[in-house]
Amino acid sequence: MTIVHLRRARTSLVLDARGPGLPRVVHWGADLGPLPAEDLPALVDATVPPVVPSSFDAPTVLSLLPEASAGWSGRPGLAGHRDGRDWSTSFRLVDLDVRDERATSPPDGTAAVGPELLGGAPLPAPGVNRWPFLSTVEVRAVDPGAGLRLTVEIALDAAGLLTLRHRLRNDGDGRYELRELTPVLPVPAVATELLDLTGRWCRERAPQRHPWPMGAWVREGRHGRTGHDATLLLVAGTPGFGFGHGEVWAVHTAWSGDHVTVAERRPTGEATLGGGELLAPGEIVLGPGEEYASPLLHAAHSADGLDGLSDVLHTHLRARPEHPRTPRPVTLNVWEAVYFDHDLDRLRTLADRAAEVGVERFVLDDGWFRGRRHDLAGLGDWWVDGEVWPDGLQPLIDHVRVHGMQFGLWVEPEMVNPDSDLFRAHPDWLLQTPGRLPPEWRHQQVLDLVNPDAYAYVLGRLDAVLGEHDGIAYLKWDHNRDLTEAGHAGRPGVHAQTVAVYRLLDELRARHPGLEIESCSSGGARVDLEILRRTDRVWASDCNDALERLSIQRWTGLLLPPELIGTHIGPERSHTTHRVHDLGFRAVTALFGHHGIEWDITAIDATTRAELTAWVALHKRLRPLLHGGRVVRVDHPDPAVQAHGVVAHDRSAAVYAVSRVATSAAQVPGAVRLPGLDPHRRYRVRPPAGVPEPALLELTPPAWLASGTGVTLSGSVLASVGLQLPALHPEQALLLEAVAT
Ligand code: DGJ
Repeated sequence: MTIVHLRRARTSLVLDARGPGLPRVVHWGADLGPLPAEDLPALVDATVPPVVPSSFDAPTVLSLLPEASAGWSGRPGLAGHRDGRDWSTSFRLVDLDVRDERATSPPDGTAAVGPELLGGAPLPAPGVNRWPFLSTVEVRAVDPGAGLRLTVEIALDAAGLLTLRHRLRNDGDGRYELRELTPVLPVPAVATELLDLTGRWCRERAPQRHPWPMGAWVREGRHGRTGHDATLLLVAGTPGFGFGHGEVWAVHTAWSGDHVTVAERRPTGEATLGGGELLAPGEIVLGPGEEYASPLLHAAHSADGLDGLSDVLHTHLRARPEHPRTPRPVTLNVWEAVYFDHDLDRLRTLADRAAEVGVERFVLDDGWFRGRRHDLAGLGDWWVDGEVWPDGLQPLIDHVRVHGMQFGLWVEPEMVNPDSDLFRAHPDWLLQTPGRLPPEWRHQQVLDLVNPDAYAYVLGRLDAVLGEHDGIAYLKWDHNRDLTEAGHAGRPGVHAQTVAVYRLLDELRARHPGLEIESCSSGGARVDLEILRRTDRVWASDCNDALERLSIQRWTGLLLPPELIGTHIGPERSHTTHRVHDLGFRAVTALFGHHGIEWDITAIDATTRAELTAWVALHKRLRPLLHGGRVVRVDHPDPAVQAHGVVAHDRSAAVYAVSRVATSAAQVPGAVRLPGLDPHRRYRVRPPAGVPEPALLELTPPAWLASGTGVTLSGSVLASVGLQLPALHPEQALLLEAVAT
């Protein structure tokens, strides 16, 4: 049929869709410029591998859905069968639609609207949502012998983000059991290293890096939620790639249930990145005419290191219609201040102190509903506990709102404690396998939201709690256990549960327009781009220790821009690590996100309160920059120095944080380069006024810092020479503001 060349931002995608089989990705990576038509067949020819001894007699073709029938002997893109038959496919291309247009930007300047294919389930209404400058390809193919129809959806958006999805339809007579449907993309041989993320509770997003060996590097999540260990991105790159250098390719599997993300390198020479849903045996069985859609696979390329990947992803996310556009309110969450000890007077006093320091949203966490005096009981009974709250929540909500703050409330809708009225009334409303209960986790089980009665109950209770109170603007939506042996009606249930949760969120938001929702899951175990289509921020971790948070936020920020990541100032002694940090280090670390406080500030002295007030005020002043600018991280040779920043898109200003995470081998760790500024403009760099600087180790700090007026240098010098900074004590941070003169 044709060879398709799509170009957006700094990315090109070339597809050989001449048939007769599925299209082959000839190139995904750097922009190739406006190639003349005659170059496209030449490009295709130039990328076809030779035929070598002891192999197939014709070159093998790696398509968007690798098939054995096309000579692929790696992981298959599709696995399934019809009672033991139709287990291998040979799809023939039927037709394809290419839409490669430049829509005009909406008049209000917001980059409008989501792509109709960005769905998983359920899909936005067709025709309503379109990305500006969106290029899409829809490929339709059939395998009549196997009775299967495949639709491949591809979109390249204005940011250069590539999105793929496969839809498989059973056109045959019998039932077809699907085991796997995974889009893959080729990566060139120059990518020889892999980086991905793992983690656990309170230590999410720990990077792991290694050479890319032969074989498959398979990151599976079988938690029934995205998982603390989920790799937000799986990155392949040229040797030694860093934040600001190296060519990198990355994928993100946008799914909040079981999922897999894979990098595979074959002795035949191919290397691929892919991702899809992990399906249990018998989980997806398509009746005649039924269709399954794989999760969206997002793919980004950068010629300028990991920061370039984040540029693509952050730009994509910020252009979504659902992206929060109001200033992100500074939040006080009461969890670490009071835990389950709810008392109206105490919480009112906490709200008074919160308002004094500049908080804009006050969130009442776990413990407000019936029987919830501890984590052993109550989940599922979504009525305000009359014993603890004899006059209900409204007096507290009103008190909070009189101060001009928003009120938010914690919920955990998918869960139930066996010690609850709900469980006693409906012990069968659980995800389980027949005859036994899953092992308990935090004394709780998972409600079967595929059961229409359980679903209606939860939606009804959430709706009632929101409807019966005047002024709940925000829900912190928690999810504190893995799904284990999660069956519905005797069959595997994770897929259907995941879809039901998406529907629940969508319906609740439709009933309560303007309601904001935070995705929390024992900290950061539900962070993915599908849950973020219906939530407004994520809780990155239950660990508020600033030292741990530096790393957690840095790597969460690979995928998400700062305004989507909840970052709170915790107490002086961290509740989860028992480390002690001074307020400056905690505040600088929490500054770079959706800022907040999680600390009993009724118990702090006047000096600390004044300092905290100054930090909150500084965040508010810098907020437009922090929540709209370009994120940069510094590749410093000393691992004890971690530096990062945000640069305004017009490069008129930037803010950087330089943190010392440990002592160093060298007494002076070396100059810190400040990337991202306009090389041709001059900037005055100095610590911002109004907040205390860290206590310094030096007898004599660098002269430019001691002067108090900072230093004025070009963006070029700041990026290539950098600044000598004070050596700082371990677990101290220095904030620097750069303003164009
Ligand atoms: C886990 C969350 O991550 C915490 O922030 C807190 O909300 C608790 N659950 C409450 O049970």
